[in-house]
Amino acid sequence: MASNLFDLSGTVAAVLGGTGALGGAMADALAAAGAKVAIVGRSVTRGGQRVKAIEAAGGVAKFALADARNLDSLRDCRDGIAKELGPISVLVNAAGGNRPEATLPPGADFCDLPLEAWQDVFDLNLVGGALLPCQAFGEAMLEAGSGSVINIASMAGMTPLSRVVAYSAAKAAVINFTQFLAREWATRGVRVNAISPGFFPAEQNRKLLFNDDGGYTERGGQIIGHTPMARFGDPSELAGAVVWLASQKASSFVTGQNIVVDGGFSATTI
Ligand SMILES: NC(=O)c1ccc[n+]([C@@H]2O[C@H](COP(=O)([O-])OP(=O)(O)OC[C@H]3O[C@@H](n4cnc5c(N)ncnc54)[C@H](O)[C@@H]3O)[C@@H](O)[C@H]2O)c1
Repeated sequence: MASNLFDLSGTVAAVLGGTGALGGAMADALAAAGAKVAIVGRSVTRGGQRVKAIEAAGGVAKFALADARNLDSLRDCRDGIAKELGPISVLVNAAGGNRPEATLPPGADFCDLPLEAWQDVFDLNLVGGALLPCQAFGEAMLEAGSGSVINIASMAGMTPLSRVVAYSAAKAAVINFTQFLAREWATRGVRVNAISPGFFPAEQNRKLLFNDDGGYTERGGQIIGHTPMARFGDPSELAGAVVWLASQKASSFVTGQNIVVDGGFSATTI
């Protein structure tokens, strides 16, 4: 009985940024739970690789090209997926990340942070990472009267991390936006939640965490030192949270929440 709670057979999920580390792992998890998965992104190569991996594991997946920062492109993509796989009832917003230009170098003056870099990080994480996909995919979910939106925020959105001010503020806005939209759509059958990962090595943060020789940077070492589990996360460790939130049976009364998966980072100060 309990195992049925996490069965996603008959569900179609779109994973924006499924071309990346965390989105890819969450796409794997949704497919393993029985969902048909659309990997949405800009890289045909990386998207195709993820589709092949899901198929090799016995799942169903398709790649769909879209720019998360462009509403028309998202609407076209949504309609294409619906034609090929069926109506989408799960949206995972995992397109996002930090930008090196928006990270203050050690000892740098905050007043010198370039506006373009700040705007780019907000545009990527808040506009492309939440706002526009929620509008494009949300309108079809509202019409159908059911759906689950899962925004990928960050533990940095709850307490700002040093040096990555734009990223932290943009992710705080994603959490706030998630709460807004949850209330807005609560009586219309669409649940809206966030997952806030702690530190998981990916392309967008590799330089911040690792030296060229594979050892930790000073910051990487500090993070491990502050994480009670004393390690980085593995992207596969987001599987439980994403499948739970995607499943109407498992999380039907859960909306507006921010689920933190961080090895205990946010639970302690030293
Ligand atoms: N890795 C971590 O430690 C960590 C921690 C907390 C939150 N996050 C968040 O998780 C999400 C996924 O990050 P990741 O670490 O897997 O990074 P990643 O760089 O591996 O994946 C992000 C993916 O999004 C895609 N993307 C970027 N802009 C896009 C656009 N305009 N349209 C379509 N696709 C676009 C990228 O091409 C990439 O494939 C991001 O929102 C990130 O901020 C990551």
